[in-house]
Amino acid sequence: MASPESPLRRRLIGALGAASSAGVVAAGAPWSAWAADAAHGADPEFLITPGLTYLNTAALGPTPRVVLERTLAAWQLLESNPVRMAYGDGDVHLATDQARERLARFIGCDADELQITRGTTDAMNTVAQSIRFRRGDRILTSEQEHEGGHNGWAYVARRHNLAIDVISIAPGEHDPQRILARIADGLRRRTRVLSISHVFSANGLRLPIAEICALARRSGVLSVVDGAQALGQFAVDVRALGCDAYAASGHKWLMGPKGTGLLYIRREAASEIAPVQREDGPRFVTNATGIGALPLVIGLGAAVDAMNARGIDYVERRIRELRERLHTGLAQLPQLRVVSPPAGPGATALVAAMLPASIAAKSFQSVLRDQHGLMVKRIEAPFFNGIRLSPHVFNTEAEIDLALRAIRAQLDGAVHGQ
Ligand SMILES: Cc1ncc(COP(=O)(O)O)c(C=O)c1O
Repeated sequence: MASPESPLRRRLIGALGAASSAGVVAAGAPWSAWAADAAHGADPEFLITPGLTYLNTAALGPTPRVVLERTLAAWQLLESNPVRMAYGDGDVHLATDQARERLARFIGCDADELQITRGTTDAMNTVAQSIRFRRGDRILTSEQEHEGGHNGWAYVARRHNLAIDVISIAPGEHDPQRILARIADGLRRRTRVLSISHVFSANGLRLPIAEICALARRSGVLSVVDGAQALGQFAVDVRALGCDAYAASGHKWLMGPKGTGLLYIRREAASEIAPVQREDGPRFVTNATGIGALPLVIGLGAAVDAMNARGIDYVERRIRELRERLHTGLAQLPQLRVVSPPAGPGATALVAAMLPASIAAKSFQSVLRDQHGLMVKRIEAPFFNGIRLSPHVFNTEAEIDLALRAIRAQLDGAVHGQ
């Protein structure tokens, strides 16, 4: 066990905090340089199996070694004296509070408006269960929502006999003004909540969320944003967006520990959206929350540090380069119909394409994995039969080209009956 003065304890405490970028990315290391130079699938900063082409960050992002090390250091320190470390002014508990403060700064809110969750689903469920609905209330949402953002509303609607109105948006539809107009049309006298994604999971379309939230506010409707596919891909400033609640994942684009996320609730909306977890104040471990996954939260703080060290603007630019290459390449394959928007304000790293009806997404995905070492997501009903690829900064142009060759080879093979 680490004694109060032991070198191990000092080292572990040192590993916990440090909002500085120094321990995260070697000082002065040009991030873009290693990204460009990285050998295919063998980037030493990540643990991805050499040879594997991982293009599925939109499902789960890989955690960099340095973030994992800080997570594990926190865990070791916790185990040196669990009760002392986990509660009150214990070093590990203090470090979780600091992690939350860094996360709050990262999304532009105050720490007391932010709750750490297990992911987006957990955050969206919490919002849905924290509103005191009145008889006749309605919830407005879209047909492009991920089930993690939708299930909480379905649950409360069932339990409290509420109506859910669903705006239809086709997978290939990209015009933000038409979507905005349809949202305006969908608002009813009794609409209480508008719940919508910042970026659609199936086709990667980025919505004009600030305008959508302003529309909701003018109509006296609470705006709840599912930001699972936004946080860590581009800068998110929740105040500027003007939403009442924002849910996001730590384990996707932020590349934090698996099982982490956040829930922002605007201070002015706190009386209407009031989770029981906030009853005892904002600290991470309280009587209202019980003990949580402290090392993971500290790892989430380290993931924010890593993202700050790279610079979110660099991340957005680099992602855009990779997705353009991918989008252009997929659009040249005649068997596919790309449903993600072209370059422009609606474009994100998520690039999806419909497969011909004769090729099932599930088997296509398995073949890409087993024969080409390529990880993509399959998209199925209720969306469409297709695949989605989502490059992040650790991917390279060589990997995009490999993916395009693999997809082309499989499509040609399928057409020729292999
Ligand atoms: C839009 C959206 N919402 C929610 C989720 C679920 O996120 P989590 O795994 O963090 O609960 C996802 C996951 O892909 C998503 O794309």
